[in-house]
Amino acid sequence: MICDLSNGSTIDPSIVRRILVTSALPYANGEIHIGHLVEYLQTDIWVRFQQLIGNRCLYLCADDTHGTAVMISARKAGVSEAEFIARMQESHQRDFAAFDIRFDHYGSTNSAANRAICERIWHSIRQAELVVERDVEQLYDPRVGTFLPDRFVRGQCPKCGSPDEPGDNCSRCGHHYSPSELIEPRSTLSGATPELRKAPHLFIELEKLRGFLESWTQTGDHLQAEIANYLKGHFLGEPLRDWDISRPAPYFGFEIPDSPGNYWYVWFDAPIGYIASTHEWCERHGERLDDWWRSPECEVHHFIGKDITYFHTLFWPGMLKTAGFSLPTKVHIHGFLTVDGEKMSKSKGTFVAARTYLRHLDPSYLRYFYASKLSSRVEDLDLAVDEFIAKVNTDLVNKIVNLASRTAKFVESTGLSPTYPDDGGLFVAAAAAGAEIREAFEATDFSRAVRLIVALADRANPFVEERRPWDLRKDPAKAGELQDVCTVALNLFRQIVVYLSPVLPRLAEQAGALLGDPITRWEQSQTPLVGKPVNKFTHMLRRVEEKDVLAMIEESKPAGEVDTATASPAPGVVGSTTWNDSGVPLAAEPLAPECTIDDFQKIDLRVARVIAAEDVPEAKKLLKLTLSLGGDTTKNVFAGIKEAYKPEQLVGKLVVCVANLAPRKMKFGTSEGMVTAASTDGAPPTEVFVITADTGAVPGQRVH
Ligand code: 2FM
Ligand code: ZN
Repeated sequence: MICDLSNGSTIDPSIVRRILVTSALPYANGEIHIGHLVEYLQTDIWVRFQQLIGNRCLYLCADDTHGTAVMISARKAGVSEAEFIARMQESHQRDFAAFDIRFDHYGSTNSAANRAICERIWHSIRQAELVVERDVEQLYDPRVGTFLPDRFVRGQCPKCGSPDEPGDNCSRCGHHYSPSELIEPRSTLSGATPELRKAPHLFIELEKLRGFLESWTQTGDHLQAEIANYLKGHFLGEPLRDWDISRPAPYFGFEIPDSPGNYWYVWFDAPIGYIASTHEWCERHGERLDDWWRSPECEVHHFIGKDITYFHTLFWPGMLKTAGFSLPTKVHIHGFLTVDGEKMSKSKGTFVAARTYLRHLDPSYLRYFYASKLSSRVEDLDLAVDEFIAKVNTDLVNKIVNLASRTAKFVESTGLSPTYPDDGGLFVAAAAAGAEIREAFEATDFSRAVRLIVALADRANPFVEERRPWDLRKDPAKAGELQDVCTVALNLFRQIVVYLSPVLPRLAEQAGALLGDPITRWEQSQTPLVGKPVNKFTHMLRRVEEKDVLAMIEESKPAGEVDTATASPAPGVVGSTTWNDSGVPLAAEPLAPECTIDDFQKIDLRVARVIAAEDVPEAKKLLKLTLSLGGDTTKNVFAGIKEAYKPEQLVGKLVVCVANLAPRKMKFGTSEGMVTAASTDGAPPTEVFVITADTGAVPGQRVH
């Protein structure tokens, strides 16, 4: 069989292809959320599909660690950048693994390998005489001592006067400007008025690569048609702007060897991380980097979101070409996630962290739902909550898993029939459908693949319903027929699960265990299993409950913000029967002796943001909190609230802390303050309530 590949060539699929696949490297200054997961799941499904059909396919990724944002976050957390990115990487890898996203290697852009490859590529770019130096005026925060990226400056729009607009474009009138044009600009890091300072920057003259970029973007099917057209209409229609590739100190990144005091801008070394991650994998596996990055025999596929198109379709191919590395075979670009038709929103609770999702829902649900919505086009993907619940329950549980759950138990003692029974042609027809399903997966048209697979379940279910195994089992004379019906149902189930295995690896594992035949190859969908024992059926996938989805959304809302649609009525409307104002706490702990206002003033209570929280494993009650008082002032405190809060519930909360308490040396470190919390004397330790500040308060404000 010959299949048509996306690059237009026809390749005999019996010849194993060598394919290197990447997803965009996640930034090390934020947690993974369900928006990120669109891409990592899309990529993981495609990689698993390639491996299932027998291709040699590597999936590589890394954390994207450099830049001002990470530098500032680390300062706020009161740790070194190295410590900060190490913690974040651990958290990213843990979340990816929990969603069954399986990388062959996961590196870091802050690695020796990445530095070395950056230096090689930089050398080639210099040799090609693409680098020029020019002075750049940029806003500088004198209080924090750093140049400010655009999004760290806010002020009044120079066109329409809208206050508090970001440094690049106005959210009210859409006007684009440079941050220095803002009226009354201020640094979001410290509130200081930024100064305009001049510093020399290095630029890559992209226009010199125009001939190559025009040809690469417009021919060869490396890009989706809408992307190629977009580039032609937006960027290639005018001279390509020089790319500002350096940043002056202080900057967390790699210092440019031939330009001391200047660092490569994070977007220079980030994509090089793809190659560095491959290098590390090669070192571990005794392979040659050139076989993956300088060989016409190897395909390179990048999966990215539409927001970083420019970097991956102009800068990156330009760098690769100049340095003599392979060019991407294809850049697969996807749209953004919306939830119920709207942008993900923190206040609506639809900005759901991967970790929060996992506390409420099974990762297989999201894998299946995203697969059922993803196409090869650059479209946004909508997670409509009702549709999510219906798809999982109707398709996955009712139509697919039920094929096994309604039949397996009847053949636990007999096993499958010795020869495959007459099923009216169902298995053969579904085997033939495999070619189209395979083509859909290859083209990243997963929604079509899923539709075709569910159609097979739609044909299999009437067979079971008409042959009624639950009735057959009541009549011993029909034991043979019962075994045949269940053999058919379980084979149709297995065939569907083979097709779905790139999407649902856990279900594939369970099906393999049930029938004693692990699912590892696409060809397993083409031949039925017979004469095999059937293991005891164990539960595979439970229905998704609406209440779990709602609880996840509720938990994702910022602390202290209440959804007025679901909140209790306002005090006074319903009356005190809904208030728990019993007087018990006051009776348990009567008021302390009177104090003067001067006594009170001695205690400096401040609003603080919890920017990190971690367990102290050796202590029964303690959590270690890092509090930001704004700017770069942080305090580490130990709080006895472990039994009431999980660390992740606290991060981001605005709390009230005793900021001038003398430091106390404790067994586990020094506590530099105290977080205020309410509790009733003698009540269980789970009933502790951290005092939070109302919306609008900011860290550092004094509590009077
Ligand atoms: O947009 C982002 O999240 C970047 N961290 C992606 C980098 S992709 C690659 F170039 F490293
Ligand atoms: Zn404006």
